[in-house]
Amino acid sequence: MDVILIAAVTQDGFIARHKSETVTWSKDLHLFKEQTMGFPVIMGSNTFNCIQKALTGRDIIVVHRNDNPGEILKNLNSEKCFIAGGGKTNARFFDYLTHAYLTPHPLIFGEGIPLFSDSVKEMELVLEKKIPVLPDAGIDQYQYKIK
Ligand SMILES: NC(=O)c1ccc[n+]([C@@H]2O[C@H](COP(=O)([O-])OP(=O)(O)OC[C@H]3O[C@@H](n4cnc5c(N)ncnc54)[C@H](OP(=O)(O)O)[C@@H]3O)[C@@H](O)[C@H]2O)c1
Repeated sequence: MDVILIAAVTQDGFIARHKSETVTWSKDLHLFKEQTMGFPVIMGSNTFNCIQKALTGRDIIVVHRNDNPGEILKNLNSEKCFIAGGGKTNARFFDYLTHAYLTPHPLIFGEGIPLFSDSVKEMELVLEKKIPVLPDAGIDQYQYKIK
């Protein structure tokens, strides 16, 4: 099963200013909706609490501290699933990731919630596809396979 990290990031690697920020600055929400439709979407409880509207058409799995990432993934019967934040959850599923869909935005926060909240090992990414989001603003989604 493909396990795909999906995130909008600032140029200094943050996904939010603080843990209860609802991300209104991302320009790729339409892609998120389109790409995750019909597949399980895994997210942490802080992220779930930040989402105003339910993500209909997807099986949303909210992860808590006592959950076991490997067990959650083992129980899924799908060709792919998405890891949709936040930083803590991305770090907990890091070892299982096969792909990363990242959309860098022209922003610098200086501090906040990083893409991975805990230290993770180095990984090499191989670009598979680049999808234009807002070409005039230089915003694209980069779809990487993890080597
Ligand atoms: N830019 C983007 O693409 C994007 C995407 C997703 C999310 N976000 C943003 O990211 C932010 C949330 O990120 P986050 O990292 O704070 O939260 P998160 O990963 O969404 O949720 C926190 C997770 O960590 C667990 N946890 C909390 N305290 C813990 C502890 N002391 N030890 C072990 N586990 C613990 C929680 O479990 P419990 O439920 O048991 O507390 C929960 O599973 C929000 O602002 C959200 O909008 C941005």
